Amino acid sequence: MTAELPRLYDDLAAWWPLLSPPEEYEDEAADLVPRLRTAIGPAPAVLLELGAGGGSLAFHLKRHFRLTLTDRAPGMLAVSRAINPECEHVEGDMRSLRLGRQFDIVLIHDAIMYAAEPAAVQDILHTAALHCRAGGAVAVLPDYVRETFVPGTDHGGGDSPDGRGLRYLEWRWDPDPADDTYLVDYAFLLRSADGTTTVAYDRHVEGLFDRARWLRWFADAGIPARSALDPFGREIFIGTR
Ligand SMILES: C[S@@+](CC[C@H](N)C(=O)[O-])C[C@H]1O[C@@H](n2cnc3c(N)ncnc32)[C@H](O)[C@@H]1O
Repeated sequence: MTAELPRLYDDLAAWWPLLSPPEEYEDEAADLVPRLRTAIGPAPAVLLELGAGGGSLAFHLKRHFRLTLTDRAPGMLAVSRAINPECEHVEGDMRSLRLGRQFDIVLIHDAIMYAAEPAAVQDILHTAALHCRAGGAVAVLPDYVRETFVPGTDHGGGDSPDGRGLRYLEWRWDPDPADDTYLVDYAFLLRSADGTTTVAYDRHVEGLFDRARWLRWFADAGIPARSALDPFGREIFIGTR
């Protein structure tokens, strides 16, 4: 296992399509695309996604933009390559990635929460600003900001045509509301094609910062932003460079 990576993105990455397939991102993509278009206009556009994971959201965005998809987890990039073979894929950590080119849009979706310290968020916004052309947009969608966080559970999963099946329980909680993180504990039941089933546990430490800090960090990175709530209760920050 690679140090630092949660198991879900490492030895369990091949199970991603059973946990979070493209169909689960269809509504979010339908909400997001017009917001991005409002920010940059109707001309053909190139979009860089940082932390694009298994490419489930990208699967819907590629009809609207030319995509470059990046992630630090090779197993997740392999999943994305399988469903998005026409997109460029690059392995890299969004805290330090330097492609040496600029895009109309830089997008960070449900990967930004893995920045669990202020310095990491600031490094990532700096990466985003460097890769965004003047007049372009940087869109960041954390699962929660401090004001919207609610502890709770979720469950789901699916079956694959190859005979595998996955079911999971997700448990979000915040042991110390005074600090900048919350925890997401996962229990996975993984059924192989031969019917044997194993159990896996995975803990994710995720960042939780209030809206005002986010907006200050955007301004400090040279991409002053506005925030809005999407219909799914998720904060969307869109900054303009
Ligand atoms: C929830 S998954 C993203 C799923 C993706 N939205 C999709 O549609 O499939 C989060 C991803 O963030 C990536 N990630 C976390 N921290 C990262 C970092 N510092 N740099 C690059 N990728 C990172 C993980 O490897 C993981 O693939």
